[in-house]
Amino acid sequence: MTDWSTYERRINDAKGPADLDAIDQELFGRKNGTLTTALKELGSLPEAERRTKAQELNEWKKKLTGAIDIRRKELASPSDDTLKKSDTIDSTLELPGKCRGHLHPIPEFIRQVEEVFGRMGFDVAYGPEIESEENNFNKLNIPETHPARDTQDTFWIKGVQNTVLRTHTSPVQIRYMQERKPPFRMICPGKTYRKDADATHSPMFHQFEGLMIGKDVSLANLKAVLITAMRELIGRDVDFRFRTGFFPFVEPGLELDMLWKGDLKESREGKWLEMGGCGMVHPNVLKNVGIDPAQWQGFAFGFGIERPLMIKHRIPDLRSFYEGDPRFLRQF
Ligand code: DAH
Repeated sequence: MTDWSTYERRINDAKGPADLDAIDQELFGRKNGTLTTALKELGSLPEAERRTKAQELNEWKKKLTGAIDIRRKELASPSDDTLKKSDTIDSTLELPGKCRGHLHPIPEFIRQVEEVFGRMGFDVAYGPEIESEENNFNKLNIPETHPARDTQDTFWIKGVQNTVLRTHTSPVQIRYMQERKPPFRMICPGKTYRKDADATHSPMFHQFEGLMIGKDVSLANLKAVLITAMRELIGRDVDFRFRTGFFPFVEPGLELDMLWKGDLKESREGKWLEMGGCGMVHPNVLKNVGIDPAQWQGFAFGFGIERPLMIKHRIPDLRSFYEGDPRFLRQF
């Protein structure tokens, strides 16, 4: 009679999957596996003996297949010995150096703006990006018919009347003046929104606004402040040109152009580039915030942030600023 328990021992002692395959074949091989044969031979036994024998053989079949499965799994996972040898800590290993992060060029520029104007006595203010039509347009003396109000440019807020995503940082002038008494100097950086999207326009972009109101603040002060600050922010290698320009909230209104003499893209070299608008705050705007224009006067300006950065760093596509690609960001 076959002693099936020897198979059990052999299975448990198997040294590798090949040993197990051999035992498996020896027991369950279709033609002459020992257990297969024993099961086949059941048919020739007398009835009474057959029943008990069949039960016994089926139990062994179950037990031995189970044992083979278990041993197969054991052999597949590393032994304690293997782990002891391979899973050690090498304390002499050199670790890769830590990468140091830095600010994104836009917030970095905003900090510089706050710093440079801060040193000139300007307060830093912020306003909401969801703004009333009143502050974004009306109080800035922008008439109903001005093209800037056209739905082409402005994002209106669905379901909320007379509310927009601010199209410029100028409404912060209104908020600031309504809450304080002049004289004041204020700078306001932030996000602005317009329905525009291509390599040089993004539906969200950044601006910084400036405002200085006093008894005798003049256009000469505007030029001095702007030139001093912009040279510091953008580089000494820049020339400026003021041209007349129209903005409903200033009178007279000016546009500031810059000329880079330094190392720039050929196509840009020697060209004047428009940087933003400025001028003397319109008397209507002062009246709208309860300031007497017969007593107070001053200047305001508003500039884009992406544009000078694009020129300074030769960035051909504005969208690179917002994609968060480390290959772009690591260059700064
Ligand atoms: N808000 C204007 C714009 O986004 C820029 C501007 C022009 C701002 C003249 C001013 C200003 O404060 O005086 O196009």
